Amino acid sequence: MLWIMRFSGFFSAAMVMIVLSPSLQSFPPAEAIRSSHLDDVLRFSGQIPSADRFSFRKASTFRNAAECGRRALGKRGVCDPSLVHVAITLDVEYLRGSVAAVHSILQHSMCPESVFFHFLVSDTGLETLVRSTFPEVKFNVYYFDPETVKSLISTSVRQALEQPLNYARNYLADLLEPCVRRVIYLDSDLVVVDDISKLWTTSLGKKTIGAPEYCHANFTKYFTEGFWSNRKFSGTFIGRNPCYFNTGVMVMDLVKWRRFGYTKRIERWMEIQKSGRIYELGSLPPFLLVFAGHVAPIEHRWNQHGLGGDNVRGSCRDLHPGPVSLLHWSGSGKPWLRLDAKQSCPLDSLWAPYDLYGNSS
Ligand SMILES: *[C@@H]1O[C@H](CO)[C@@H](O)[C@H](O)[C@H]1NC(C)=O
Repeated sequence: MLWIMRFSGFFSAAMVMIVLSPSLQSFPPAEAIRSSHLDDVLRFSGQIPSADRFSFRKASTFRNAAECGRRALGKRGVCDPSLVHVAITLDVEYLRGSVAAVHSILQHSMCPESVFFHFLVSDTGLETLVRSTFPEVKFNVYYFDPETVKSLISTSVRQALEQPLNYARNYLADLLEPCVRRVIYLDSDLVVVDDISKLWTTSLGKKTIGAPEYCHANFTKYFTEGFWSNRKFSGTFIGRNPCYFNTGVMVMDLVKWRRFGYTKRIERWMEIQKSGRIYELGSLPPFLLVFAGHVAPIEHRWNQHGLGGDNVRGSCRDLHPGPVSLLHWSGSGKPWLRLDAKQSCPLDSLWAPYDLYGNSS
């Protein structure tokens, strides 16, 4: 109710702004995109959009090295077996992060033209924005209907974790073309600082997903006491050696995923959560329930996570020891917000070079 009141308040304020603001009345392409998203902008950010909210600079051109081979998409298109498939959500609220992530991948790839992006969206119009920012990139856009998960989402410690698009990673096997056999799923609050093809060629052995595992993390705390005291639930971990892993960086074997019906298995835990709380976080715990202990371990360099601090205060964090191929601002602090607020953490400066937000300067 409060939400509706806030929304209508902002909406009328925005209407006034449209009437008064000459810049919002003219509709060159960028403005046209923004206006079609006015509702969403208001809904997600709870504030009047600034005039250049969706303005991104064009990324510089990139080219495959000689040893990469063919450049243009052949007859087989997205089914070309030489492609590296990367899936990322384009959430209005995290758009700046998603664009920086794509930018970082292209910059560090020996074969950037061999990367195919799969963008998951719940809004229309974002395709135009991606095309104008990355004119040469190969990509498809997939509409993820929020209704798919709306009835399955329960409240969590952080509101951002309840966004339906956050759950889209569970539906990649259905959304992507059946010929896509493997995909790297990446969150929107990270940058890749190494060649993504190294992550792509990681062996998963017999496993369905691969991710860096953290076996020293206290696994107990990801689930409620109610979960652990109910043998019907906690029994799922019997015979497994479950370790925490972060679902923001995953290599997924979609052939196995489809064959074993993992989407439904994850949904089943979400239904249980709806009928009685078994965890506090958002989309992560159901993945732990289904996969922890059955994950192909990937080098920790591929997810230097936690740079966004904790889920409440977003304090500054340092890197974990060891090499770095991917920097991940998981937690509530996001580098673009902290940089804008002039309250950045030292490591936020590593994100800044990939930022394409704003008009060319
Ligand atoms: C792990 O967390 C649980 C729940 O918070 C706690 O009871 C337990 O003592 C912790 N275990 C270790 C080894 O820290």
